[in-house]
Amino acid sequence: MQHCIAVANQKGGVGKTTTVVNLAASLAARGQRVLVVDLDPQGNTTTACGIDKHGLRLSVYHLLIGRATVAQVLHTAEKGGFAVLPANRHLAGAELELIEFEQRELRLRQALQSVAADYDFILLDCPPALNLLTLNGLTTAERVLIPMQCEYYALEGLTDLLNTLKKLRAALNPRIELLGLLRTLFDARSMLSKQVVAELQQHFPNQVLETAIPRNVRLAEAPSYGMPVLAYDKSARGSKAYLALADEILVYYGKAQAQV
Ligand SMILES: Nc1ncnc2c1ncn2[C@@H]1O[C@H](COP(=O)(O)OP(=O)(O)O)[C@@H](O)[C@H]1O
Ligand SMILES: [Mg+2]
Repeated sequence: MQHCIAVANQKGGVGKTTTVVNLAASLAARGQRVLVVDLDPQGNTTTACGIDKHGLRLSVYHLLIGRATVAQVLHTAEKGGFAVLPANRHLAGAELELIEFEQRELRLRQALQSVAADYDFILLDCPPALNLLTLNGLTTAERVLIPMQCEYYALEGLTDLLNTLKKLRAALNPRIELLGLLRTLFDARSMLSKQVVAELQQHFPNQVLETAIPRNVRLAEAPSYGMPVLAYDKSARGSKAYLALADEILVYYGKAQAQV
């Protein structure tokens, strides 16, 4: 699916959800029509979008098992200016229930097909595992954005994820490519951050995105108010960083000119 980006890393706490919510808001602020899909049973993206995950009648779970349409599940992130397909803990059950379906890795792609043309970007927030939910994300998307926390062991697991992409390319999704590695929780002054970045650039030349997301307390606070950082504090460093990431991605897709 063109313009569909899966944000994935089987590690937890590396900034996937923060990236999905704030990149969505930043792309929306640049005039793009954006849909966010929460594929994580923790439902953190759903909450960060100001949606009560416990009160959902229908969610991505129902969409995947064929008991609801996109239109029935669709919500809006009021403070973000984008659309959301929300999730909660019921989604954890989908893994087992999907086993009885043929083409169970393609459920999301099939469900989104009819609405894909309504959006300029579709962002998928994957759970912290290489499970069937993540596979559904990776068969739907054409690009994968991998947030990397700049700490020791950052590269651990990356090889597994890249091998999964290779297998998908050979079978279910020939168009899937890496969009890039995104440095998150980044501290330009720390020796450790510098070392990890040097290592990343050595192993994955030209794959590390220019924009790095700094550690910024506003980014951690905004979700508890159910809004992206851009709505919470637009002058925060986190807001500026995610706007820069949106601009870098717009250039990547040929939708904007690079700033010189
Ligand atoms: N750049 C950042 N600065 C400060 N806190 C951050 C940043 N990115 C993420 N966090 C916080 O770190 C925690 C994990 O981030 P999250 O986006 O939920 O990771 P993941 O979805 O990969 O598990 C959350 O509490 C989040 O608010
Ligand atoms: Mg998350």
